[in-house]
Amino acid sequence: MRDTGARRVLIVDDSPAFTDALKRLLTAEGFVADVLHDSEGVIGAVAQFAPDVVLLDVDLPGASGFEVCRRLKRFEATRLIPVVLLTGLVGREHRLAGIEAGADDFLTKPFDSSELTARVRSLSRLKRYTDELESAESVIVSLALTVEARDAYTEGHCDRLSTYAVALGRAIGLSADDLWALRKGGLLHDVGKVGIPDAILLKQGRLTAEEYEIVKSHTVIGERLCSGLRSLASVRPIIRQHHERLNGTGYPDGLKGSEVSLLAQIIGVVDAFDAMTTDRPYRKSLGIERAFEELRGDVAKGAMDATLVERFIELAPGIFASTPPSAGWDAARVERAAELSPATA
Ligand SMILES: [Fe+2]
Ligand SMILES: [Fe+2]
Repeated sequence: MRDTGARRVLIVDDSPAFTDALKRLLTAEGFVADVLHDSEGVIGAVAQFAPDVVLLDVDLPGASGFEVCRRLKRFEATRLIPVVLLTGLVGREHRLAGIEAGADDFLTKPFDSSELTARVRSLSRLKRYTDELESAESVIVSLALTVEARDAYTEGHCDRLSTYAVALGRAIGLSADDLWALRKGGLLHDVGKVGIPDAILLKQGRLTAEEYEIVKSHTVIGERLCSGLRSLASVRPIIRQHHERLNGTGYPDGLKGSEVSLLAQIIGVVDAFDAMTTDRPYRKSLGIERAFEELRGDVAKGAMDATLVERFIELAPGIFASTPPSAGWDAARVERAAELSPATA
């Protein structure tokens, strides 16, 4: 993992005497420092210099330090860079404004040089950890997309699942954290297939009982792959449980009812739908109406939750308008299928 090179600090302050002194101090401590004297070019400088920490004066010509901090925290690419606000202003109000702007720390001028270097050191260490976590997470996401790419017939499957699951989750009022987990869950649910041999995964005919057991293990392998990443903690149950069914007929653990996490149930519904509406080498897409019928059949058997399935069918025409299913998309027919009264109560 990346922990190479000196830690980089961007100093933004309008007083050259101050920035010179600070730069000298940080350089002596082994940091690489860059200096800006106004707020104008901060975003550009951050993009170019890729600092591990930004030391930002509150009182800048142009936009204030608070405003610059707020901007840095708004963008995905810069929001994880620790920002220390340097302030000559003491008082609760300024601290509150800084916290609101998303600042990670404060230093009141004049400050003790060893305190400053200690804080910069610990924040830059934190930044490197976050970088490592982010890159580990993106390795797993690319792995999942590689798995999808091995099988030409599943193209777009993960993206569709994310979109469908998030739309369904939003419709039933889930929190932003749950929606995030659903989005990641859609992308990662089948990542464990990386451990299944091509001969089985891409087999055109029926699987033997043994081969089917091996395919089932993708749930456990996937969960294990993500186990080292705390950031994916809420996604792991989705990966392990997306083939569990409420009546205990699913795998790998044969869970029942509320033992199956709600998020995994959601991915389970949209995954089953997407599998049925994708052409496979050994069969064509079932078509959307048939797929809806099958889902309702699963509800009748107690395998799936009625509310989730009906909400999904209700939402389908709207969702498919922007993200159509793999095969068998026909707006009018989807509307009609969604309107049919459920086969079961
Ligand atoms: Fe799966
Ligand atoms: Fe899947």
